[in-house]
Amino acid sequence: MNESRIYDNHGRPIDYVRIAVTDRCNLRCFYCMPAEGITYVNRKDLLSYEEISRLVAILAEMGVRKVRITGGEPFLRRDLMFLLEKIVSTRGIEAVHITTNGVLTAPHVPALKAMGIKSINLSLDTLDRQRFMEMTRRDELPKVQECLEALLANGISTKINAVVMEGKNVEDIIPLTELGRKDPVEVRFIEEMPFNGAGANYPRLAWNHRRILQELKSHYPEIHKIPDPDHSTSENYQIPGFAGTVGIIPAFTRTFCGTCNRIRLTAVGQLKTCLYDDGVLDIRALLRSGAADGEIRTAFLKAFSNRAKDGYEAEKRRSADRPVNESMSTIGG
Ligand code: GTP
Ligand code: 5AD
Ligand code: SF4
Repeated sequence: MNESRIYDNHGRPIDYVRIAVTDRCNLRCFYCMPAEGITYVNRKDLLSYEEISRLVAILAEMGVRKVRITGGEPFLRRDLMFLLEKIVSTRGIEAVHITTNGVLTAPHVPALKAMGIKSINLSLDTLDRQRFMEMTRRDELPKVQECLEALLANGISTKINAVVMEGKNVEDIIPLTELGRKDPVEVRFIEEMPFNGAGANYPRLAWNHRRILQELKSHYPEIHKIPDPDHSTSENYQIPGFAGTVGIIPAFTRTFCGTCNRIRLTAVGQLKTCLYDDGVLDIRALLRSGAADGEIRTAFLKAFSNRAKDGYEAEKRRSADRPVNESMSTIGG
């Protein structure tokens, strides 16, 4: 058992790394990517599996226990299962999770279960095929539903992520919540953030966490708050008689920064110590300059000792010419 611990300059432990393994995606969710004109990075610019594995081993030695694999869509990266096996077996790593859009995931579910993947977060904003097509610009709802069925059948702990958007899927809040009536899924509604790759001015947030809760309360007057797990991004609720739970993620309002335990590696190897920063360390450059493990550790520690206290400070520290509008596919959420 690994006893090391790392804390940031605000006394928050850092024990969770989120790794984007690709910036590519097989959907085009409009809140994440523009329809056309996306330039993907060259494969050689992505962190290689060797580089990712090395970083995970270094971070695990420092005290990181949890890894979440994200993208883009992680299952688009060739031989992802190989990387997952490697991370699952890294000394010190206690839990490996994945966030996926589910389009290519169903066939892998039994192997994910066998490998010991702790949970899957599945992006699913609507159960209506037409709206799914409008929101993701692809007709892939059946495959995502197949993935959800496979996850449930294999007993993998599952969270559904739905970004809530005025004029797009507000009518889906209740049908999505109903998924938890008979199945033990956690359905989470997310405030929309401006990470849409569009570079356009961002209008005021129409559906914040309070309004989402209001909507739930008006349909389920008996909904009640339940305790949130440590470092949870979601505020969690139970509806009497439901097998699952409901959560709301104030991702834009950023109410959970005080307990934030997570760092991120983007697909091209930028370290982010906050979702809202624009990269605080080029780890890929460091790796490719031949740095020894000790130098990498020192660079991580330096970054952790200068961490923004919350997403607002991180946003303020960004270069003036880089407002928050990069595509979420480059960050992994
Ligand atoms: P776990 O806590 O490990 O279950 O992960 P998660 O629910 O935070 O991760 P997931 O990838 O499912 O992300 C769900 C939503 O929360 C996405 O819209 C993320 O962008 C958002 N989110 C995740 N982490 C953060 C964060 O650190 N800050 C903010 N503001 N939003 C986040
Ligand atoms: N705002 C909020 N959440 C987003 N995601 C992608 N783009 C945005 C955005 N602009 C979510 C996806 C996925 C998670 C990783 O991030 O729905 O579930
Ligand atoms: Fe952490 Fe930044 Fe997200 Fe806040 S906004 S929870 S500090 S990553």
